[in-house]
Amino acid sequence: MKEFIKQLPKAELHLHIEGSLEPELMFKLAKKNSIEIPYKTVEEVKEAYNFTNLQSFLDIYYAGAKVLITKEDFYALTWDYILKCKENNIIHAEIFFDPQTHTQRGIAFKTVISGIKEALVDAKKEFGISSEIIMCFLRHLSEKEAFETLEQSLDFKEDIIGVGLDSSELGNPPKKFEKVFNKAKEYGYKLVAHAGEEADVSYINEALNLLHIERIDHGVQAIHSETLMQRLKEKQIPLTVCPNSNIELKVFDSYKEHNIKKLLDYGLNITVNSDDPAYFKGYLNQNFFNLIENLPLEKKDIITLVKNSFKASFLSEELKNEYL
Ligand code: ADE
Ligand code: ZN
Repeated sequence: MKEFIKQLPKAELHLHIEGSLEPELMFKLAKKNSIEIPYKTVEEVKEAYNFTNLQSFLDIYYAGAKVLITKEDFYALTWDYILKCKENNIIHAEIFFDPQTHTQRGIAFKTVISGIKEALVDAKKEFGISSEIIMCFLRHLSEKEAFETLEQSLDFKEDIIGVGLDSSELGNPPKKFEKVFNKAKEYGYKLVAHAGEEADVSYINEALNLLHIERIDHGVQAIHSETLMQRLKEKQIPLTVCPNSNIELKVFDSYKEHNIKKLLDYGLNITVNSDDPAYFKGYLNQNFFNLIENLPLEKKDIITLVKNSFKASFLSEELKNEYL
């Protein structure tokens, strides 16, 4: 089964590029850019990656991102992820980035997006890997700051397919960004949002009803509402589920308790993704391996999950048909 998973061409739809920053590159960039990081060795970093919930991870993740300064740094970060795509047989990736994590430190929006974009252009040239970029608003920041970021993005609109919503979920419900998302829709952006990762089903309902999102990132808490489950099934609204992330951030106590098989058996449009692989012990294939080792997933389930990753993507209908 592992060999079968490895050789399947896959799409990844929930990947934060800042979450693919491996400790080795973090050290290299910290040294080059004279940025202090609170670790002496790669082993020390790995020991620090011992999370109790989403916030405990985010604190460390934002601290790590401070080593990224120049366009070349964002290129190196993205290129390293592309090499992982090659290893994992990911042929299409829709990549999140958090502009505010960088602009708040005085790094220009252009520096960030152009480094990422150049690596993605080279990925297409070198390996035939296709990709899209989605920019996420940090939900712990204000609506005003999200609007400023939306306006800044317009100069780079041809490189950004959509907007998302991430960071500290609890206490920052989707409705806080209703106006921003409506404006983003007017600008022609596709819309996604993290919802129902830690917070309850009301966050998923709000993301659908007020933000009008096309895809739910995480969404595993949907299982607690029969009405919502029916709606997700009927409309085939995709969920980008991230198993390793859910275990590392204690959304579920163990892989055996993860509800992905239940969601899939119910008939939802479920995909498997790696979220922040450098922090959560593995890239996309490892997420599948952990699932098959702990849940009664059959070969046909794996095929459904992988097909869903293309169906749920923002690829053109023509390209989807080519891949499916
Ligand atoms: N930013 C990076 N990873 C995230 C996650 N899993 N949830 C919310 N925000 C994030
Ligand atoms: Zn995420």
